[in-house]
Amino acid sequence: MKPRTLLRMLALFILALLIVQTLLLLSNESIVGSSSSTPTTLGRDVVVGGGARTGGEAVVFPHHRTAPFDGNATTTFTPHEFLAGRREDYVNLPLHPADGEDPDRRDDEVRRLTMEYVPPPSEELMHVSPIPPGRNAILGLASYPTFAIGWRRLLGSLRNAGYDGHVIMGVNPNLPDEERDYLDRMGVTYYAVEVVDCDPSILDERVAEGGKEEGTKNAVRARCSVGLEDLKLEWGRYEMARRWLRACESCTGWSMVIDTRDVFFQSDPFAVLMEEYTRHDLLFVEEIANHTNTLPSGGPQRATNLGRSNRFVHHTVPCYGKDVVRAYELTDRPMLCSGTVIGTRDGMHRFLSVLVDEFRRNNRSGKPECRSPHTTDQWTMNHMYYRGKFGSVSTTRTLPWGTGPVLTVGTPCVDQRIEDVRARIGRKDMIVFDPHTGLILNPHEEDGSPARIAPILHQYDRCGKWMRDWFEEHRSLFNAGGGVRLEDEPAVAWVRAAMNVSSER
Ligand SMILES: *[C@@H]1O[C@H](CO)[C@@H](O)[C@H](O)[C@H]1NC(C)=O
Ligand SMILES: *[C@@H]1O[C@H](CO)[C@@H](O)[C@H](O)[C@H]1NC(C)=O
Ligand SMILES: *[C@@H]1O[C@H](CO)[C@@H](O)[C@H](O)[C@H]1NC(C)=O
Ligand SMILES: *[C@@H]1O[C@H](CO)[C@@H](O)[C@H](O)[C@H]1NC(C)=O
Ligand SMILES: *[C@@H]1O[C@H](CO)[C@@H](O)[C@H](O)[C@H]1NC(C)=O
Repeated sequence: MKPRTLLRMLALFILALLIVQTLLLLSNESIVGSSSSTPTTLGRDVVVGGGARTGGEAVVFPHHRTAPFDGNATTTFTPHEFLAGRREDYVNLPLHPADGEDPDRRDDEVRRLTMEYVPPPSEELMHVSPIPPGRNAILGLASYPTFAIGWRRLLGSLRNAGYDGHVIMGVNPNLPDEERDYLDRMGVTYYAVEVVDCDPSILDERVAEGGKEEGTKNAVRARCSVGLEDLKLEWGRYEMARRWLRACESCTGWSMVIDTRDVFFQSDPFAVLMEEYTRHDLLFVEEIANHTNTLPSGGPQRATNLGRSNRFVHHTVPCYGKDVVRAYELTDRPMLCSGTVIGTRDGMHRFLSVLVDEFRRNNRSGKPECRSPHTTDQWTMNHMYYRGKFGSVSTTRTLPWGTGPVLTVGTPCVDQRIEDVRARIGRKDMIVFDPHTGLILNPHEEDGSPARIAPILHQYDRCGKWMRDWFEEHRSLFNAGGGVRLEDEPAVAWVRAAMNVSSER
């Protein structure tokens, strides 16, 4: 045999090896893909969530036993797995979009939105904290004229829990000095949110003219802020968070956009985001639903099942239409809370970009029913999630009530069957306490789980008197330094250290 022929054969052999190798790889991928049933959708999702991911772990396919978008409500939602104690098999995935939008096209659209230019914050920066040791971020709007005890509950408990990441807040420009000083010592970066009238074009003029706009009592519903006159505060806060997060270059870890008025912490919420969660870049928190209700079946039911909620229908159907909302397909689905959303830097950016775009799009539709006060953040967000509007289904999940970083106690603390409205709130029968510390537990986490003590309590204001008494008994949770007055509370250590350095200069 001529050496040239030999060489040619060798080359062919190597080529064949390469082809076999590639085929093997491909077949392996399709095995992974087919266990999730819709490989094309999932494949694209990874690109959305991936790319320049900075926080969290690498994206791996979640082990869904079921397919998103197969139109089969029983396989996109598995409450029975949760009830049987198989949490890893629990899914609460979106249904097929009912407006005819192709899921792949949606992913393209979501990707386009996340790549759009993000303007710098329109609010004036009042204070920049020294760069904290941690890279996670908590963002929220608390534009109350004064919020003294609220700050202590929110920030005191957070820092006391050892959280050493960013806190970025929107505050009232005239915040009292002692509150500002407290925020400085707690390592908070804050922007001045100046409240003004909204651009009239975003309101339903039929309601506005009558001067009886629904929700005018609630400041968040009625007003806008300087620079964001095209978004009511309740929506504008998501655009603020989007810009603040982008402006914070060292916020490269997990982030959380939260309500501020009714939130406190018992531990660092990000510390429980371990393996179970890190395959994902966007986490929605479920409120209590039938399958997570801990009251015995047949006993008083204190859960909200989305499709059965008249308020959900009332706030979505007039804008989107009955055939697009399809509440009947969401009968037993849990309501997701818009006041505590968790994501990596990229996942959170995706969520915020899509949500804010929807608010603007609803205004542009020109339909009064799509404008304020008819559409609200939480109901709109729920409709969007369950129709796959946030894209990247494979890297997005919902966290069952009573597990994970957030325990939402609003509905559990309110018994709707009691006629006297004031007597409804303040129920305690669904709350589980740690026998040693008295701290509030996640009912569906096992003893020894890092999230057994609920890291975040949300909507505690509906728990009434027992919660106020509980605050009294657990004062040390809110002031690690033992300061009786806000002014006496010492700065967190890394802020103190940074202040020393700058005063030496
Ligand atoms: C295919 O998957 C198997 C099992 O996960 C693994 O052992 C093997 O290395 C993979 N093959 C290739 C070519 O990636
Ligand atoms: C839908 O769910 C039902 C009940 O679990 C099952 O029998 C059926 O095969 C599923 N259909 C598809 C297309 O997955
Ligand atoms: C609610 O869940 C219980 C199990 O906890 C179940 O027996 C009951 O049928 C469910 N009710 C509805 C209306 O789905
Ligand atoms: C709201 O939508 C209308 C069209 O329906 C448009 O003329 C107006 O400019 C929009 N307002 C804002 C602030 O974008
Ligand atoms: C800051 O400086 C004071 C006085 O110089 C010193 O007593 C204190 O230990 C320093 N604190 C930190 C955190 O370095």
